[in-house]
Amino acid sequence: MTDSRVLRGPLLSFMNDPGEDDTPQPGSVLYLEDGALWLENGRIRAMAEHLKLEPELPEGIEVVDYRDKLMMPGFIDSHVHYVQLEIMASYGRQLLDWLNEYTFPEECRFAERAHAEAIADAFLDETLRVGTTTAQVFCTSHPTSVDTFFSAAHRRGLRMLAGKVLMDRHAPDALVDDTYGGIRDTERLIGDWHGKGRLGYTLTPRFAPTSTREQLDATGGLLRNAPDLHLQTHLSENQGEIAWVAELFPEASDYLNVYERYGLVGPKSTFAHGIHLSQDARNRLAQAGANIAFCPTSNLFLGSGLFDRLACREAGLNVSLASDIGGGTDLSGFGTLKAAYQVGQLLNQPLTPWQGFYRLTLGNARALHLETHIGSLREGAEADIVVLDPKATPLLERRMARTASLSERLFALMILGDDRAVHATWANGQCVHQRDKAMP
Ligand code: GUN
Ligand code: ZN
Repeated sequence: MTDSRVLRGPLLSFMNDPGEDDTPQPGSVLYLEDGALWLENGRIRAMAEHLKLEPELPEGIEVVDYRDKLMMPGFIDSHVHYVQLEIMASYGRQLLDWLNEYTFPEECRFAERAHAEAIADAFLDETLRVGTTTAQVFCTSHPTSVDTFFSAAHRRGLRMLAGKVLMDRHAPDALVDDTYGGIRDTERLIGDWHGKGRLGYTLTPRFAPTSTREQLDATGGLLRNAPDLHLQTHLSENQGEIAWVAELFPEASDYLNVYERYGLVGPKSTFAHGIHLSQDARNRLAQAGANIAFCPTSNLFLGSGLFDRLACREAGLNVSLASDIGGGTDLSGFGTLKAAYQVGQLLNQPLTPWQGFYRLTLGNARALHLETHIGSLREGAEADIVVLDPKATPLLERRMARTASLSERLFALMILGDDRAVHATWANGQCVHQRDKAMP
């Protein structure tokens, strides 16, 4: 049976990088004041002005009226730890102490299936509530934490990337892998989940300090044999971490070179943070086609540093945007954009609303090589859509009344928006979140 309906209202989608100027590059933005998305069996069958599409629509088709809202492609989060949901907002400390005091003890709990199931569901409820329909997700080193996450995402019809953390040293016993046992678990998980429905597997060595050379080498072997897999890890986030990596890997010319030596730096590799990098390292990452996940709320919360986005652009290096929960303080793409703007202000490189919303949608889709599926509202794309309510709160309504352009409205949303501004979220052609309404 055909599952079909129309969403009618203003819609915004990017066709290309709008650039860094206040005015977007010609042809980069598509905005329809009275648009229509015809959804059919999980995809966008047609996208046009409502007036143009109306004559083609079958009689009696359901039309959802979003004329006082704003539709965009579902937001994408390129780096997040679902297992750290409950340790968000844990006071104090920088990265290495924070890992030992809060993160590792919490991750130990994921040996228990019931805990993993509860948090996977809570995490997905929260991401959909903030309009995020795709994320690249760290689980823990327990295979159960991956099975439960993928199974919850599959049940909801979501496009998600995730992987089992590989770590075989420098952590509590309950978290460390047997070096090759962790690789065998990874192979089993790839077999069970990669390519199932909308799911994809991401190889996930935590970061250089928690893997032996043998484990990094075996991970590189997996990637060589299956280059369609993604890979995610952390890189150059914190000065203490960087000094530790230099001690552990004296043979490497810099932190990035550890990953290069084991064949982990490729076009589908995401490196979280990359704050303290030489321009040479940025150039090497760019050459490989990799991306850096800029995680502004996390970088501020853990006191890690200010990410130089424009130095990356100069190197031609892809930058994606991410929440990095639980180092991050906000799952919402709005929260990430607001912090990215604030970091940019301190470096004299403000983030325009065009560039911000591009990164949250098509930019992140491109960085993750998912743009053939998601990231834009166009014919044939998967129907993942966020419906924003620019007047969700009295304050937003007041602020919107004072705006004179779409650019100003987007900027106000980026700074004042939160989960309340997400009226509804659609994934795979289905409404998966509606504000103030319990979902079945
Ligand atoms: N580096 C290694 N593990 C982690 C983690 O869980 N969070 C952050 N922010 N950095 C890391
Ligand atoms: Zn992280």
